[in-house]
Amino acid sequence: MAILITNIKELVQVEEQPVTRVAGAAMAEIKTLTNAWLYIEQGRIRDFGTMPCDELRLMKESASDQQNSSSPKMQDDLSRIDATGRMVFPSFCDAHTHLVYAGSREKEYIDKIRGLSYEEIARRGGGILNSARRLHEATEEELTEQASARLQEIMMTGTGAVEIKSGYGLNVEDELKMLRVIRRLKATSPLTIVPTFLGAHAVPAAYIGRQEVFVDLVIREMIPRVAEEGLADFIDVFCDRGFFTVVDTERMLEAGAKFGLRPKIHANELDYSGGIQVGVKHNALSVDHLEFTGEEEIQCLLNSETMPVILPGAAFFLGMRYAPARAMITAGLPVAMASDFNPGSSPSGNMQLILSMACINYRMLPAEAVHAVTINGAYAMGLNKDYGSIARGKVANVFITRPIPGIEFMPYAFGSNKVETVILNGKVING
Ligand code: NIG
Ligand code: FE
Repeated sequence: MAILITNIKELVQVEEQPVTRVAGAAMAEIKTLTNAWLYIEQGRIRDFGTMPCDELRLMKESASDQQNSSSPKMQDDLSRIDATGRMVFPSFCDAHTHLVYAGSREKEYIDKIRGLSYEEIARRGGGILNSARRLHEATEEELTEQASARLQEIMMTGTGAVEIKSGYGLNVEDELKMLRVIRRLKATSPLTIVPTFLGAHAVPAAYIGRQEVFVDLVIREMIPRVAEEGLADFIDVFCDRGFFTVVDTERMLEAGAKFGLRPKIHANELDYSGGIQVGVKHNALSVDHLEFTGEEEIQCLLNSETMPVILPGAAFFLGMRYAPARAMITAGLPVAMASDFNPGSSPSGNMQLILSMACINYRMLPAEAVHAVTINGAYAMGLNKDYGSIARGKVANVFITRPIPGIEFMPYAFGSNKVETVILNGKVING
C-alpha cells in the first residue's frame, strides 16, 4: 500500500533532521515546502520534495528495497491524490485527554453559568465524583461505544495520536475497567493511543478527611494491579489545591516509578500548588494545565526534560486565567497544547479549536501554535521519534486540508473543519 500526494500547495513542518521538541524562539519558525509532493509507503513517510515528482526514481528505489521482501511492489497498489490548492500537515498529537467517560455533565454547565466555581461544583458532589458514579454504572461495552464515537470525531478533525487517562474510577475495579476500555480502543482504533493511570483524580466522598488512606489504596492496590496487567505507560496525579498535596503526589510518583510508570501530572490549575516543582523533581514527561505559573515555576522548568502542556479548552470553558505561554516561550521553554477532552472542564477534543485559542487567548503565532499541537504534543506522550512532523521514516499520520490560503488560515477560521482527508498509518480514513 502506497500513496503519492502531488501538487501540495504547502507541505507543513518538514524536517530533514528530526528534532525531539521545539523550544523558545525556534517555535516561531516552521519549515514548509511549497508546491510539494509526499510519498507514503507501508505506513511510513518515505520521501517528500518539491514538484515535479520523479516517480520513476521513487518506483526504482521502492522496487530495489523490496526485492528481498514479501511486501507488495509500489506499482501494484499505488493510490494517487492530487492536492491542488490544499495543504498537508502532520496529524495533531493530543497529549492530554480524559475521553473515556459515561454520559455528560451539561447540568453543571448551567451551575457554572450561574457563577459556581469548579471547586464549588466538586464540593456539592458534582464534578469528577459525578462522572465516577456514572462510570461505575456503565459497562465496558457502553464505555467503549461512547469513547469510540469521540475518537471518530477527533480523528476527522485531524488528531492522529492521543493520550487517554483513567481517573473516573476512584476505586480499584473501576480504574481497571477504565484502563481495559482504553486498551480495547487502542487495539481497534486507527489512532495511536497512549494510556495513563490517574488513580488520584479526586478524593472519593468516603475518604474525605482521611485522604492519606485513599493515597495508600492507590499505592498498595491500584498501582501494582495496573502494572501487572500492563495497562498504563504513565502515572498522573491531580496535584492542586483541594485535591492532592505535594506530599501525596510524591508518595504516589515514587510508588509508580518502582513499576516503571513515568509521571505526567495535573499541576497548578487552581493555585501555585507546587505541582510543577514536584513534577520536575520526579522527571515528569509533562506537567499540565499551568494556569498558576510564575517566574519560579518557569525557572524550575528550564533545563528540565519536562514539557509544559497548556490546556486552553479548560481555561476557556471554566473562565479561568490563561497560563503564561508567551512568558514561557520568551524564557526559552517549549510549550505543548492539548485538548483535555473531558465532560467537566473541556467537552471538546477539537485540536483545530485549540490552535485558534492558542493564537487568540495566548497570543501565540500560528507557527508556534502548530508546534505546540504536533511535535511538542508528541514529545509529551513519548512519541516524538515516530510522530509530530513530516520526516522520512516517521509514521504516516497526516491530513490534507480543504483548499485554504495559508497556515494562518487554520487558527483564523475558527469553528469550521478545515481537514478534508485523513491519512493514518499510511491509510486513507473515510469518515
Ligand atoms: O483536566 N483538573 C482535573 N481534571 C480534569 C477535569 C475532569 C473533570 O472535571 O471531569 C481536567 O480539567
Ligand atoms: Fe485533565
